[in-house]
Amino acid sequence: APAPASTFFIFGASGDLTKRLLLPSLYNLAHEGVLVDDFAIVGVDHVAQSEEDYRAFLTDAVRELPGSLDTEGETWRWLISRIHYVSGDFEDPDTYGRIRERLDQRKPQTGNAVFYLAVAPRFFATISEQLGAAGLLKEAEDAFRHVVVEKPFGADMPSAKALNRRLLAVADERQIYRIDHFLGKETVQNMMALRFGNGIFEPIWSKEYIDHVQITAAETVTVEQRGGFYDATGALRDMVPNHMFQLLAMTAMEPPNSFDADAVRSEKTKVIEAIRHMRPSEAIGAAVRGQYRAGFVNGQAVKDYRDEKDVNPDSRTETYVALKCFVDSWRWNGVPFYVRTGKALAVRRTEIAIQFKRAPGVLFRHLPTALKPNLMVIHVQPDEGVSLRFAAKVPGRKVRLSDVEMSFKYADYFKAAPSTGYETLIYDCLCGDPTLFQRADTIEAGWEAVEPILEAVGGGENEVQFYSAGSSGPAMSDVMLAQDGFQWLPLERDRPR
Ligand code: BG6
Repeated sequence: APAPASTFFIFGASGDLTKRLLLPSLYNLAHEGVLVDDFAIVGVDHVAQSEEDYRAFLTDAVRELPGSLDTEGETWRWLISRIHYVSGDFEDPDTYGRIRERLDQRKPQTGNAVFYLAVAPRFFATISEQLGAAGLLKEAEDAFRHVVVEKPFGADMPSAKALNRRLLAVADERQIYRIDHFLGKETVQNMMALRFGNGIFEPIWSKEYIDHVQITAAETVTVEQRGGFYDATGALRDMVPNHMFQLLAMTAMEPPNSFDADAVRSEKTKVIEAIRHMRPSEAIGAAVRGQYRAGFVNGQAVKDYRDEKDVNPDSRTETYVALKCFVDSWRWNGVPFYVRTGKALAVRRTEIAIQFKRAPGVLFRHLPTALKPNLMVIHVQPDEGVSLRFAAKVPGRKVRLSDVEMSFKYADYFKAAPSTGYETLIYDCLCGDPTLFQRADTIEAGWEAVEPILEAVGGGENEVQFYSAGSSGPAMSDVMLAQDGFQWLPLERDRPR
């Protein structure tokens, strides 16, 4: 169904996110026909330029994207004619006066507005407060006002709390849409269908049958142009309390009573709140931080992280992190959840691997090699799908067993529309559905769980280990699992089954 008419304000109108993701997503939504004729976009930025210039700037920018949009076609013509521009400083109240004028002009069509903050994090609170002071966040029957807040949401527990306080002083929780773009990924959303839409998985989805869980988000990219931001942030803050914990929550949550936004979000929050808080001294055995050194990724030479642009030459920031977490709930008591993510690794692969307990060995103990445990892997990206490993008899008179795999690939069944992952999120925000957005308490619980590690790092107690670009990460990470008798799933390109 088409989304209700609205005005979509983008703060940071000339920024990278706008060009790379927001515009292409809005284009895809327009192409799908879910944006109504009374939809409009208003870019807001400090650059002084005319509407014509802004439209030309965007057209040029999206033409340069890989797999670029068709800027000659009907969809782009439709979209670009609905793009407007307001120039002004984010800290200047006059800017918000001009935004109000825009909204007043739009009144005959719609009073609904989304304010998308695609800006540096230091502006999140300021812009929201200015919007509040200008009365732009006051809703009416025929005028919703939603604020979309990008990542990173805070840099630790106190700053995330402070940001939540400032936002909630000017807007209601239900008006605030904190983005975690992993929740826009189809396979992540599919987790609920898989677990709760089927009868066969849930009965064995617990400590009785599951041995441990591995959650991986491996990237081949380096820090690229983001050295300044990244060196101050690191892999732990960048990926764990948000993306990785969302994947963990999807894996471990209890079935919600309904698909109501708060029913779903409360169940996920419960999981994140149940992640055991280690003492900083324990963070040494349960958290491995790595930093890449020169190497080759897919045959391409990669330089030392410390030699990247805008990175401190003595940096101790991690570009890889692996954690051992426990979810202290009835269902998961004692089951380790290992989480790892890193840059400049051998492959790009995001997946959730559920390893089941072994069958009792009585019948097959004479076999030369031990059977592998059953393994279910949810492939989040690329090659979206689900696979299940089990043992089968090798044909022949002698009893021998071998691992085989049943595998479902999205691409074999469904033809997906082109997607950046942001389409669903933008559409949901236009329709007023916050299910796939983070609530204040969810984010705070995430930060709280990683706080002891941040403390240990701050105290110089969790030294960064080096790994070669193009490898699977630091050796210590393998040691962490080996101590528990486990092994990470290999990060090779063609993984042996
Ligand atoms: C972002 C992080 O939130 O997620 C990046 O800031 C990371 O460092 C990215 O590369 C990964 O997202 P995706 O969709 O490419 O897996």
